[in-house]
Amino acid sequence: MTNALPIGLFDSGVGGLTVLREVARQLPKESTLYFGDTARVPYGSKSRDVICRFSLEIAQFLLHEKVKMIVVACNTASAFALPSLRARFDVPIVGVVEPGAQSALSASRTGRIGVIGTEGTIESQAYSEAIHRLKSNLQVFGQACRLIVPLVEEGSLDKPVALEIVKEYLTPLMAKTVNTLVLGCTHYPLLKNLLARVAGPQVRLIDSAEETARAVGRQLKDLQLEAPVGAPLLRRFFVSDAPEKFEKIGQRFLGQAIPGVQRVDISTWI
Ligand code: DGL
Repeated sequence: MTNALPIGLFDSGVGGLTVLREVARQLPKESTLYFGDTARVPYGSKSRDVICRFSLEIAQFLLHEKVKMIVVACNTASAFALPSLRARFDVPIVGVVEPGAQSALSASRTGRIGVIGTEGTIESQAYSEAIHRLKSNLQVFGQACRLIVPLVEEGSLDKPVALEIVKEYLTPLMAKTVNTLVLGCTHYPLLKNLLARVAGPQVRLIDSAEETARAVGRQLKDLQLEAPVGAPLLRRFFVSDAPEKFEKIGQRFLGQAIPGVQRVDISTWI
């Protein structure tokens, strides 16, 4: 029965666990299957074609494992590959960009929105296009933050260097007097306190993970795909390299231990 199948989520590595964490919190009855492409991370500095190919391979793998929906938990993969995934596969596919854009629109009082993300996400203009599709007269300012992903993975969040890096990236956006800031990357929710402190109390932070989990819940309901009562709850994890490292670093992103991570050779899934 389709409803009892897990939701498949994927990301370039550990970052998408922030989305899984929210999905598990908001939809505790839904089983999940997570894939982290740890052999090919980072996605943020790679080209559209490469990210589309990786995303296609991963979606094939998830469908082979049997999932009822695919959540593209990576902002860069959502920004580049969502249209080609939707064109290719029949299952419902939810990305993180559209929910984040919707939420930024609702939060923004002055219509001046800042977006921070990887180089790929910002250069793709995916957030500003998604926001402008909802309302055309808003002003959207993007800022690529290349150093935040390694900073978060290193766990150096309370070191002075973290403050310096965040200031460097946010200063140009603050000069544009944005009043809403979209955290357009899986890793940024872990830096939320520092980002809020530097941005100041007048700026609303938008966490794409929370909004994405809400969108997943809405779609499951609309499509009558919610897990049946009493279905066993499963959380499975796959990576393309170094399961032990994923278990170790991923704990901070998921907020709990990650047991039994399996390795798969993803490049054979096309
Ligand atoms: N998961 C990526 C994103 O949200 C960040 C890490 C990477 O560059 O692969 O864009």
